Amino acid sequence: MLRSAILAASRSARLENLVSKAPFGRDVARRFVAGDGVADAIRVAAELAADGLSTTVEHLGPATATEAGAHTARDEYRRLLRRIAEAGLSDTAEVSVKLSALGRSVDERLARELARDVCEAAAEAGTTVTVDMEDSAGTDLVLDTVGKLRGDVPSTGVAVQAYLRRTEADCRELSLPGSRVRLCKGAYPEPESVAWQAALEVDKSFVRCLNALLSGPAYPMVATHDARLIAIAEDRARWFDRAAGEFEFQMLYGVRTAEQARLAAEGYTVRVYLPYGTHWYGYLARRLAERPGSAAFLGRALTNR
Ligand code: FDA
Repeated sequence: MLRSAILAASRSARLENLVSKAPFGRDVARRFVAGDGVADAIRVAAELAADGLSTTVEHLGPATATEAGAHTARDEYRRLLRRIAEAGLSDTAEVSVKLSALGRSVDERLARELARDVCEAAAEAGTTVTVDMEDSAGTDLVLDTVGKLRGDVPSTGVAVQAYLRRTEADCRELSLPGSRVRLCKGAYPEPESVAWQAALEVDKSFVRCLNALLSGPAYPMVATHDARLIAIAEDRARWFDRAAGEFEFQMLYGVRTAEQARLAAEGYTVRVYLPYGTHWYGYLARRLAERPGSAAFLGRALTNR
């Protein structure tokens, strides 16, 4: 119930205004977000690279409700990708993007076209793009868009969510040579008809998806902080004879940093999802919802203590 309350709070413009302005809110955000601008993202990506960690950088912009807003988001990604190349980070830093940021709610065709622009800019910068998965109403759109993009930019990756009942079958479809697939649990409220609700069912689905990806030719990106699933992934990778460079682990910036360092020291590729931008409130609230014990942060931010 607390999780639902925090998720509801993540969509409140009034709370966003309050928390974004509270000094404590900004302090908490700094733990999970690189900063407001591209320069912050590049600085933190370089620091993480020096520690042996790769990154996938995402811009947290305002909700995209107009065509002009979608073009602004595309231009921000072009700027980010130029800066990644200029900073010599193309080998370790890629970008993550949401079709909603590129105008999915305005015009799906526009979002597809702008996603292509971002992928082409990434190829020019010598790096890659992973398209995030959002609510289940958009799953087909994301998979179809990425399928078409891979025709021209084969390195384009996609996220899939283990909590969706369909995802094991999607993983089999995505098991193609060079196919970059990020497997995560899933972060959006979904009805029972499309998504497993019990944590154990989600975990079991995660393992089935992991088996489907690791047993085929795809490049799995195992995105979880769950110690048990990480141990299973290490075990399954050995079982399927996957060398450390043939899959990777992914975690969020600021979450389980000691585990990130441990896996990197073991020789695995560890990629940190690194968000930046001024619209960090919703992202922060979703992270706190995943760990309701830390929701006290939100309360303290609101009361400015
Ligand atoms: P779970 O939430 O069960 O956490 C396991 C353990 O990890 C917890 O017990 C705790 O110890 C620790 N932990 C987890 N979150 C924490 C936090 N915020 N603070 C402190 N400790 C924490 N979702 C989606 O729907 N679409 C997407 O495209 C993506 N993309 C994505 C990329 C990457 C790199 C990651 C890591 C995650 C995503 N997600 C996502 C989010 C994902 O679906 C999921 O909501 C979170 O990763 C939390 O799930 P875990 O697998 O970590 O397990």
